[in-house]
Amino acid sequence: MRSQFLEAIETAESWLDQLKGGPGLSPTCPLGDHHIKALLSACDQEEINTLIETADYARKVFMGNQVHLRGIIEFSNHCARNCWYCGLRRDNTCLRRYRMPLRDIVAAAREGAKLGFKTIVLQSGDDLWYSASMIRQMVESIKQEVDVAITLSIGEREFSEYEEMRAAGADRFLLKHETADPDLYARLHPGMTLDGRVERLKYLHRLGFQVGSGNIVGLPGQTIDVLARDICLMRDLDVEMAGIGPFIPHPATPLAGYPPGDMMTVLKVLATCRIVMPWAHLPATTACGTLDPNGRQKALRAGANVIMPDITPAEYKALYEIYPGKNRVDIDAARGYQLAVEMIISLGREVGQGYGHSSRHRPAPAA
Ligand code: 5AD
Repeated sequence: MRSQFLEAIETAESWLDQLKGGPGLSPTCPLGDHHIKALLSACDQEEINTLIETADYARKVFMGNQVHLRGIIEFSNHCARNCWYCGLRRDNTCLRRYRMPLRDIVAAAREGAKLGFKTIVLQSGDDLWYSASMIRQMVESIKQEVDVAITLSIGEREFSEYEEMRAAGADRFLLKHETADPDLYARLHPGMTLDGRVERLKYLHRLGFQVGSGNIVGLPGQTIDVLARDICLMRDLDVEMAGIGPFIPHPATPLAGYPPGDMMTVLKVLATCRIVMPWAHLPATTACGTLDPNGRQKALRAGANVIMPDITPAEYKALYEIYPGKNRVDIDAARGYQLAVEMIISLGREVGQGYGHSSRHRPAPAA
């Protein structure tokens, strides 16, 4: 009897072959929730290799050999939320908080653009001190000076605020759903709901942002079923980007005593995501590289096509401690860029040219 895993792989392969005609279409993915679960359940080495090879094939056919580089500027580590896993949570009183002055943010973006980054990601905690007009000013100041795409990753806001940010010219918005299990979501994010998250992701799409979501793999209480639901949710939301990384315990959080996520599970989630959403941008996340020294290379061979080096100035970078070991203060923006390029070349891939926009992006309705 054919295993459920093989049946899922065969369904995926014939779908990918049909799609080779052109990704402009938007044909419905034939992989049902049970197929996704079967792919995630790959257990022996042979199944895992098949899963990863299929994902790598999908990546090659749909995204090509280019790996896109996005430079992240972590401009504030203040956070209004109290997420159980995150070192920036508001109850972490041990952390020295900062906000980068606008001129430093623009200078970091300028330096990033000079190095060759075509996308700048502006990330912060959910820092409500910044009004939408302040974010607008940040986006406009950068765009006036340098020719880059801008991704915002600043958390949950009122819908009208997202409108203003889109009108300012921000191209993309990254808001990970973190976990698609509503109960687990509510437990880990006091005062927040999965529905609220999903509504925002839908609204961001309607505004014409290229939208990124993603999950954390290895959260306490998470099962294969929950991981399958993560992928189904991202497929249904039709996100342009999915950031997938392992849970890494932070000592100043309620989850301090829990074990980290494991790399093999992360690779399975990533590979399954690539197969189900072959056009999505999938970063080899920093968390993969923190958990395993070769984690990002492994991710790039399992479907990933983006690297996001941190280009935050050293004085701030050390304080952006979402989880321990995240940021290497000894690696500045130029070195980070160079190391990423070396990684890309060593894997026989090429550095992405152009902004690295999503090929599936629907043009924005006028804001
Ligand atoms: N381990 C792994 N990822 C984490 N994040 C926050 N805390 C942790 C942790 N302890 C991730 C979340 C968030 C992103 C910026 O960092 O997914 O969206």
